[in-house]
Amino acid sequence: MAPSSPQREQWSSRLGFVLAAAGSAIGLGNIWRFPFKAGDNGGGAFVLIYLACLLFLCVPYLFAELALGRKSQKNPVGAIRAIRARTPWSLVGGLCVLAGLAILSYYAVVAGWAVGYIVHDVTAAAEPSSAAFERFIADPVWVVLLFGAFLFTTIGVVAGGVQRGIERCAKILMPVLFVLICLVIFRAVTLPGASAGLDFYLNPDFSKVTGLVVVEALGQAFFSLSLGMGAMITYGSYLPDNENLVVSGSYVALFDTVVALMAGLMIFPAVFAMGQNPAEGPALVFVVLPEVFGAMPLGSFVGLLFFLLLAIAALTSSISLLEVVVSYLVDERAWTRRTAAWGAGGLAFLLGLPSALSQGAVPALSDLSWLVGGHLLGPRPGLLDVMDFLWGSVALALGALLLSLFVGWVWGSDNALRELRTGRGYTLGGLAGPAWRIAIKYLCPLTILVVLVFDVLYDVL
Ligand code: TRP
Repeated sequence: MAPSSPQREQWSSRLGFVLAAAGSAIGLGNIWRFPFKAGDNGGGAFVLIYLACLLFLCVPYLFAELALGRKSQKNPVGAIRAIRARTPWSLVGGLCVLAGLAILSYYAVVAGWAVGYIVHDVTAAAEPSSAAFERFIADPVWVVLLFGAFLFTTIGVVAGGVQRGIERCAKILMPVLFVLICLVIFRAVTLPGASAGLDFYLNPDFSKVTGLVVVEALGQAFFSLSLGMGAMITYGSYLPDNENLVVSGSYVALFDTVVALMAGLMIFPAVFAMGQNPAEGPALVFVVLPEVFGAMPLGSFVGLLFFLLLAIAALTSSISLLEVVVSYLVDERAWTRRTAAWGAGGLAFLLGLPSALSQGAVPALSDLSWLVGGHLLGPRPGLLDVMDFLWGSVALALGALLLSLFVGWVWGSDNALRELRTGRGYTLGGLAGPAWRIAIKYLCPLTILVVLVFDVLYDVL
């Protein structure tokens, strides 16, 4: 095992950790992915199932990642090695690092689109918004430039370090994000006709619920909390022993959930008030919303605020994706943080180029339906969609499955529980401890396995 650097950094306070981890969790997943998943899967009913998944599976699993990170004070690979040296389990850490790099590579492409939508007034287009969007994402020069600029910013923050880079950035951007969301919600719910959207979003229609909806809700809940690839192991590793993992982890889950729910409040009232269709899939945010903004009073200003907040949310998430890779290079390979950030970020750029060019710029990358395709990926998946499916769904589910088995059975749920009970304050007393052990040993692995099998059956075969 490589020795960890003598002065490994830590968060400066609980608030610093909670904001940074919430920044990781709150991202495109909340604002772009959650609303369209809810819109496609029955609105309120999806939301209820999502909440149940969070409470019974994702939050217990989040505690497991935090405990593993805090105990070992290491990146995902080092954390596993610290518990079981020289076993194939370290490969799971390797999977985490790879997933971080791969998710970052396409996540930053989509984030770059959001930046592009800040820069030009989306409500001023002369053509229908779907045509404008398709033309924009097929433009190789703009897309690559924005992707590169976004990644460059991410690298700059991560290179700045845990406290002076990541934590400081989160402390400034998270409050800004929150205020912007509140402004957009206010505009949306005061539109005439907004209540139909609230109705769709808040009144569950259980006739839409199928097994696949449950699978989607669980997958979304894992992605939204940044679980399954060691991001929370890494962020937990910068926590001191006296911090209460259960309390601070619960804050992170709470903030993430509140922002996801608020994203629905921004989007559905506006979509219904403007007579648009909520079940538009991934196009909801980039195609339907510009039309909504174009038709509403103050629309171009609200549009600017919206895409600004989307880019901010994406930035604090992509920081955590890069940080997983950087912490590995720093702890295990003794790279300096600066070299690691530029090296890993540069690699993510190269890896992401094909995804960036897969939305029409290069036809061969734009239709991989001969390779995969099915219920979750839609009829003509491009490389970016395939990357999101392979890494953002399959690899995360696999990582979460293996990590929950590792914590529950290899490290042992009693050891993990002891770690969770270290620190000041609430300590999972009474039935909470045994309930957590059941969740991490049985409930999580079994349900995640079902999700994994479904994902593969539906889209690869
Ligand atoms: N949670 C982020 C979102 O909702 C995305 C993200 C960041 C992520 N880091 C992650 C997802 C690690 C999975 C694993 O957009």
